[in-house]
Amino acid sequence: MERPTVLLAVTGDSDHYLEQLARAGFESVRVTDGVVPAGSFDLAVVDCDLGSDAISSIYATIEADKSVPVLLLIGESMELPTGFGSTTNELAMKPLPADALVYRLQALLIRSGQHLPSESSGWASAEGLSTAPVAGEGHAVSVFAPKGGVGKTTISVNLAVALRQQTRSEVLLFDADVGVGNVTSVLEVPYRMGLADLSDSPPEEWTDAAFDQCVATHAESGVRVLTWGTDPAESERVSVDLLLAALKWARNHHSYVVVDNHPGYDDRTMAMLAVSDEIFLVVTPEVGALRNSAQFLELARDLGLDKGIRVIVNRANHGIRVEDMASSLGLPIAATVVSSGPKAVIASNEGRPIIIKFPKERIADDLHAVARLISEPEGAMAKESKATARRWWARFGVKTSNA
Ligand SMILES: Nc1ncnc2c1ncn2[C@@H]1O[C@H](COP(=O)(O)OP(=O)(O)O)[C@@H](O)[C@H]1O
Ligand SMILES: [Mg+2]
Repeated sequence: MERPTVLLAVTGDSDHYLEQLARAGFESVRVTDGVVPAGSFDLAVVDCDLGSDAISSIYATIEADKSVPVLLLIGESMELPTGFGSTTNELAMKPLPADALVYRLQALLIRSGQHLPSESSGWASAEGLSTAPVAGEGHAVSVFAPKGGVGKTTISVNLAVALRQQTRSEVLLFDADVGVGNVTSVLEVPYRMGLADLSDSPPEEWTDAAFDQCVATHAESGVRVLTWGTDPAESERVSVDLLLAALKWARNHHSYVVVDNHPGYDDRTMAMLAVSDEIFLVVTPEVGALRNSAQFLELARDLGLDKGIRVIVNRANHGIRVEDMASSLGLPIAATVVSSGPKAVIASNEGRPIIIKFPKERIADDLHAVARLISEPEGAMAKESKATARRWWARFGVKTSNA
């Protein structure tokens, strides 16, 4: 157990960086006057404004250990040091706020197969986590919104069931809305235990069998359900490492993993978003939700998470028009889900997914279309590019036949 060490080579005052990094459980080592202190590093932050000589000598030092991922800070000049292009490099524009630096480093750690420092400032070793290597098979989709009550859980549950119906493959619905969310109260499953029950065991005991024990199967659909637990008082015990280990296990044993996330930017949620293949951003057609989502997209760009984001508009038939939402978010709308009036509530009160309870309703068609974004990605892409083309023409006031 150790804290990840960051080599910090930046111009100007770096005290705010050091403070935030320490708070997030990182050890930082500063480069002063071009001298790299001895030691080994897990990550490096290199400011391009340091000048090419200083940068080459820093690179020469860290090149000795090729696995060190580097976050390059790009200034006004936009000049990249020579040698850039290795896959372990990432870019961020200056000025980079301290909290954004922390998020970027956390994402970099996760993507390079390492693990986040946990609140206890311990750092679970990679070997300690689920023993099987990531097979890369389980496609993980995180359903997220910075705001509560927009329909994340409704979409997660129905997305998982629709994926199961469409593909007949193994689907895991993962309730990672720690402390708040409770998938098992809207989807009736024989719940026995959750991740919170594993939190007292050391990582060596987070085995396949242990995770399997936490799974309950939804009989009507065959969707497997894993939740963090049910008692909010236990939520603090569910660590980032435990969630990451669970997701790793989930991917190894299922074709699709749908993660229902907590609305916010806590470490657990950011970790889930960083390791998911895709993020479904749920937005309702209201100014507040739209504004929060725009802020999230900005952060996601800073974090390098923006490539896998698809916007899903829920209750799309009320409020701001879908086209206006797309243009204010600067992204196409991948799918829309109508408001079903009280039907969503009726279904959830019975513990049944809407698409099973009301299969003939418009909302069921819409929810199936959300799932097809994953089960038939080619079809979805073709539709999206058609939509983009329409908007491109629309800017010139040209009407097309399918507009
Ligand atoms: N498209 C919809 N039509 C009608 N009711 C909906 C719809 N989406 C969500 N709801 C209802 O809105 C409430 C909040 O949805 P939920 O999925 O729990 O949101 P979140 O997980 O984002 O907090 C629930 O009562 C749910 O049944
Ligand atoms: Mg929820």
